[in-house]
Amino acid sequence: MSIDQEIARLREALNLHNYRYYVLDDPTVPDAEYDRLFRQLKQLEKDHPELITPDSPTQRVGAAPLAGFTQVNHEMPMLSLGNAFNEEDMMAFHQRVSKELGLAESADLEYACEPKLDGIAVSLLYEEGVLVRGATRGDGSTGEDITHNVRTIATVPLRLQGEGFPHRLEVRGEIYMPKSGFEAFNERARASGEKPFVNPRNAAAGSLRQLDSRLTAQRSLEMCSYSVGIVEGGQLPARHADILKQLQQWGFKLNHLLEVVTGVEGCLDYYRRIGELRNQLPFEIDGVVFKVNDLVQQQKLGFISRAPRWAIAHKFPAQEEMTLLRDVEFQVGRTGAVTPVARLEPVFVGGVTVSNATLHNMDEIARLDVRVGDSVIVRRAGDVIPQIVKVVTERRPADAKLVEVPAHCPVCGSDVERVQIVKRSKSGAQLTQGAAYRCVGRLSCQAQLQQAIIHFASRKAMEIDGLGEKIVEQLVSLQLVRSPADLYRLKAEQLKGLEGFAELSASNLCRAIEASKQVALARFIYALGIPDVGEETARVLAQSLGSLDHIKVALPEILSWLPDIGLEVAGEIHNFFNDDHNIRVIDELQAEGISFTDQSAMAGLKVTFAELIERMEISGVAKVGAQRLAAHYKSLDALLAASFKSLDTVEKLSARAINGVMDCLEDAERVARIRAIEAQLRDFNMHWESEQPAETLIKALPLADKVYVLTGTLEQMARSKAKDYLLQLGAKVTGSVSKKTDCVVAGPGAGSKLTKAQELNIPVLDEAGFIEMLSEYGIDGVE
Ligand code: IVH
Repeated sequence: MSIDQEIARLREALNLHNYRYYVLDDPTVPDAEYDRLFRQLKQLEKDHPELITPDSPTQRVGAAPLAGFTQVNHEMPMLSLGNAFNEEDMMAFHQRVSKELGLAESADLEYACEPKLDGIAVSLLYEEGVLVRGATRGDGSTGEDITHNVRTIATVPLRLQGEGFPHRLEVRGEIYMPKSGFEAFNERARASGEKPFVNPRNAAAGSLRQLDSRLTAQRSLEMCSYSVGIVEGGQLPARHADILKQLQQWGFKLNHLLEVVTGVEGCLDYYRRIGELRNQLPFEIDGVVFKVNDLVQQQKLGFISRAPRWAIAHKFPAQEEMTLLRDVEFQVGRTGAVTPVARLEPVFVGGVTVSNATLHNMDEIARLDVRVGDSVIVRRAGDVIPQIVKVVTERRPADAKLVEVPAHCPVCGSDVERVQIVKRSKSGAQLTQGAAYRCVGRLSCQAQLQQAIIHFASRKAMEIDGLGEKIVEQLVSLQLVRSPADLYRLKAEQLKGLEGFAELSASNLCRAIEASKQVALARFIYALGIPDVGEETARVLAQSLGSLDHIKVALPEILSWLPDIGLEVAGEIHNFFNDDHNIRVIDELQAEGISFTDQSAMAGLKVTFAELIERMEISGVAKVGAQRLAAHYKSLDALLAASFKSLDTVEKLSARAINGVMDCLEDAERVARIRAIEAQLRDFNMHWESEQPAETLIKALPLADKVYVLTGTLEQMARSKAKDYLLQLGAKVTGSVSKKTDCVVAGPGAGSKLTKAQELNIPVLDEAGFIEMLSEYGIDGVE
């Protein structure tokens, strides 16, 4: 095959995979295969630059910035749509259409129904099947040339596929940013201190208005087509929905919710169904669009002013509204964080009445420049908590008040301190800096105490059945509970007096509290409410360090070697256990009889000598340098005794690295720190020289990599306990049976999961068998 042919073959294959992936949502090859073909094509084009064409799939990465946008006159104006806001408007529309067409309202008039995508309308012009121009709608007659930007969007075909397309064809549609892309973009923008976008629509518009298309190429944008403009030298089908299906065959993405219905009832039913789906859709829509399906009928109906008479947009409730910011109050969270909450003039938005909105933190207030008395834009999209996204500064009254952090906690009156938040990545690079405020009152602050107790007792923590929020509220406000340890001193007599408590429930709660004293270490760690330590991190700590005593003293460096724990979380954990107040709470709990069911199950995670050297932060020594030093010196003592001369004999060590090591060795503080880390590695049996073979954490546990499913009722232990035991042994516990399941534990009443396991020949244990297995691993499972 000649180079030309090879290039053509690769382009065709890539275009087809692209189409299957982006347009049909039905890829036929794995991503790796696509990447391989793409790399091949890139290489061939690099070797033969004269063969690069603008429609090659490699040309979507963006090009050098333009000086400005040129204007485009639309040969056929891009129209807008009339709106319907309720059923009456829709009935009136249908009545008008039927009358103009001389049909009875009950006739089977066909409507094509589409979601109204919330993005930017664009026109794409194809000549002989090749994209020659992309333009925005602008005012309908004049838009801007955005060819360089639309070319970067995977769902915009650079060349039409198949055959039979007109010589000149203008395809119109909406370019939008999917919700996931919007959220990811904003998250990145906030982390790097840039301005986030107000909504996905603005994000799409902003991305298309880039002069530098390399920036557009990095945004997640999609295009769905919904109509045609110029059609010359060719024929299209006679119905709207069929035209769209034809466009799909030529390579355009079609919205999968397209449907043809009959009559206004069909339209209203479509509106209701899509309305229910709205929040789950991966893109934002602000309504649905109905179009008379038959093109002959469309022509008969014609246009009024700038909108077709044959189409209408039926709008959903707005997700953004303007209202008044009446006040900003401060709430105190579990960890003492003092955060602002907006109190709003109630407003109907996103289908509900909203009177509060989050303001995140003081940085957000500064970024928005929001003041009490301002008119603000409130956005509530889906089930997301309402947010203030913008201030309407033009409407700011003269007496608008700046928002200030209170000097004292609004709940307990303690001082509020400013804490600097510095986020770091695992590599130690500083990501963001911001200010947070914290009430110093700890458990003497009722807000913190109450939430700490709720968290402590919750299902994933100590699992104290019957200790709900209402009861905690009473216990805290009656001062029966001033710290978690007080829970274990409660008497049934004291509980009986509480609102909603009968004798039986009081003694049940006492029993549940008593039972919680025997707890898996991971649950206890989670229950402590260490900032940034969720269930998963708590489990990693418990499994890798094996005991509370180890966790309490672990150095941040050691913590950050554990799976999924970065320097930042390591710092939080270390600070938590270095705090007298926290240690007192833990000591009190242990004095009340808290004990762990699983202190011994410790994993064999090892840190290599090279990893320790890497962590010494020696200038000029990265991963490879560290490996060379480790191979040469073999022990820390030998390395710490190294001379300039001996360093010089280490294979391929740069002069900068040698100086770096010397600097480090001369610094007594750093040497002491490294020795402390090494000593702790030995204490924790994580040292590279420990007898056990160097295995990773999870692998060392007896059920590592095994997938278990629990089903039916277990009679001798709670399901959650059974799950804890399995997790402690390193197994994964999932909810459904598949080929990947290694074992099913089935109690009485097990149904379809048991049947499926039998079908797939997966081993099944009954409760007795399960308890026996646990005891083989040293766990006494019977309660
Ligand atoms: S049809 C002549 N279909 O809504 C018909 N428009 O107010 C022209 N839009 O600017 C438009 N989804 O940006 C049509 N499925 C859809 C649409 C849609 C979103 C936007 C489009 C247009 C505006 C009309």
